[in-house]
Formats: sequence, structure tokens, C-alpha cells
Amino acid sequence: MSEQKIHIFDTTLRDGEQVPGCKLNTDEKVKLALKLEELGVDIIEAGFPISSPGDFQSVEEISKAVKNVTVCGLTRAVQKDIEVAADALKYAKLPRIHTGIGSSDNHIKYKFNTTRENIIERAEKAVKLARNLVPDVEFYAEDAGRADIIFLAQLIEAVIAAGATVVNIPDTTGFCLPHQYAEKISYLVNHVKGIEKAIISCHCHNDLGLATANSIAGAIAGARQIECTINGLGERAGNTSLEEVAMVIKKHAELGFNTNIDSTKLHAISRLVSDTMRMPVQPNKAIVGDNAFAHSSGIHQDGFLKEATTYEIIDPLEVGADISKIVLTARSGRSALAYRFKKLGHDFTRDEVDVLYDRFLIVADAKKEVNDEDLKKLAEELERA
Ligand code: KIV
Ligand code: ZN
Repeated sequence: MSEQKIHIFDTTLRDGEQVPGCKLNTDEKVKLALKLEELGVDIIEAGFPISSPGDFQSVEEISKAVKNVTVCGLTRAVQKDIEVAADALKYAKLPRIHTGIGSSDNHIKYKFNTTRENIIERAEKAVKLARNLVPDVEFYAEDAGRADIIFLAQLIEAVIAAGATVVNIPDTTGFCLPHQYAEKISYLVNHVKGIEKAIISCHCHNDLGLATANSIAGAIAGARQIECTINGLGERAGNTSLEEVAMVIKKHAELGFNTNIDSTKLHAISRLVSDTMRMPVQPNKAIVGDNAFAHSSGIHQDGFLKEATTYEIIDPLEVGADISKIVLTARSGRSALAYRFKKLGHDFTRDEVDVLYDRFLIVADAKKEVNDEDLKKLAEELERA
């Protein structure tokens, strides 16, 4: 079976930047865009040009700065938005307009106060206008996760006929379960006339913690683009995390997928985004969290020290992280203690480790983590005794 390329669409600079307190200026956005290009993403969603003069400028400057990556600007299905986006993208070698409208009955009623027929008309008009301005047009069916599947299929068929090159099926509210999201994508693959002319894209939010699982389920069902952000930043509980998608695809070769992502750059870009957006990464975050390669319980430490793969499915060097950490707590065992002493230059005998271990437990019960200074004191005490 030949491998299928999954296009990585990064929206850190658009959906990610919507996180309260994460606003970026143009210089910061350009710097991050260049790093995203080095990382190997295929598409950078650079902003929402009509939303502010600053965002327009960012999309324009990113379009000038990057060389081999598609630059995308978001719009509503509104003429002025689309014209402004095309203007902001005029220097891009590979420009894409990302236009769309609500597709669930909830959005049609409460946001647009209109009918399904009118939504299809507006969507077709927006895509046609955008296609007159740029050759690559992505259509998003907002809240597709909660949309009626028969209507969603009609809408997607209409926008492909109008010229959409990519069709985005967002689970905007993070509502779907993986099998439900996959069923939606499968239905479109099997029922939409002309679907082979467009790439299907997954755009999943993390309100139930399922964004990555849903995106991968969508790809298995036939989607070939995944929209994601570094560190999973995004509205509310965030978006699908790029580093998780990249490593799921890398670790599960049986899926038959590949991406252009250079995984050894993931850790550095995670830290850069975190620092630039002033948004810390949670320590237990998959792939890039501080504890992603830390072992603290005795059973795990003993296994890991015998053979790393007993408790690690990823070598930290594969994602550009520091080497794995053996953290000493009251749950740690003798082998971890001996290992840490060895790193400090003390090769204690088994009997000496036994003596040290009892003293270590007293310190460990009083502290959250036993550090090198504590170990040095324990070693000195033993040598004095
Ligand atoms: O979550 C969403 O539906 C979006 C669209 C604008 C693509 O971010
Ligand atoms: Zn979104």
C-alpha cells in the first residue's frame, strides 16, 4: 500500500491566537511563521485579515516572508472579507482563502436566522468570488460536527461545484466522538458528487478532550488534511495539537500516512510558541510537556533503567526534548536512587544503597522531590559515618 500524505494545516497564528492573552504582533507572527515553515507544515493560516489592520499586516508580511508553504487567510462568507483577504495575500506564492459559514441547524437559526437553502446560496457565492481572486479556496462548514449529515453533504457538493479545492468539516464545539466524526467523513466520501476534486480537512476542537482522536479518525475515514496548533492552543479548550498528530502518524506506521513534519523540531517550537504567547505548557502535555519523559515511581524507573522502551514509546531525541528524567520522590526505588548517585559520581555498593535508601525516604516524605543537593548531603553523611 502506498503511503498517503496528510497535509498539516497550522492555525496557531489564527485559531491559536484567539486564546485570551495570546495576541501576537506582526514581528512575532512572522518569526513563528518562519519556524513553522522550517518545521515542515504545508499550510499556515496567518490570520483573519478583515478583523483588524494588525492582522491584515501580519498576513501580508507572512506572505512575503515564507517561500514554500501555502499562506491562508480566514474570511466569513462575506464579499468584503474575501476581497480584503485576497488583498492581504497578494504577495503569497501559494495563497489560499478560507471562507465559510455555519452548517448546523443551531447556527443557521441562532447565528444567521435564515434557512438551509440560503446558507447554500451564500456559501456558493462566497466560494465563486474567492475562486475568481485566488486558485486555492478552502470552504469551512462551521459546526459540521453537529450538522445534519444530509444537509452537510448537499452543502459540500454545492461548494465543490462552485470551485472549492479543500472542504473543511469542523467539529467547532468539540462535540463528536471519534466514531461519529469518522462516520461524517465517510458519508461525505461516499455520497458527495465530485468529492474526489477536493481535499477533505479535519478541524477539531478539544472541548471533550477528543480533538486529536477525532482528527485521526477523520483521516482514517478519508480526510487528507488536519488543522492543528502548536501546544493545542485555540478557542476554549483548544484545537487539535500538531505535535500529537505528527507523532501519532509517525508512531503508527500501519495507518499508512506520512507528513512533512521534522519531529526533532517539535520541542523547540513548542517552547517558542509558549514563550511568545506567554502561555505555559501543562507539565503532563503529551509529547512536549515537562513530564512527557519523566519517570518517578519505583516500578517504572526500574523498568526504564533496564530498558527504556518498557515505559517510553518515543525516544525524547525524536522530538528534540532533553534526555528522559529520573525524578526522585517517595515513590522511587533503590535502582533510581543508585542511578542518580552514579550520575553524581558515587558508585555505591548494594549495602550502601540500602542504608542510603532508608535515609532518602525520610527526606522524600518531607519534600515533593529530592534534588542533587539533598543527594550530596546524604552521600556526605554516609561517608562521615
Ligand atoms: O472551529 C471552527 O469552526 C473554525 C472555523 C472558522 C474554521 O475555527
Ligand atoms: Zn476552530
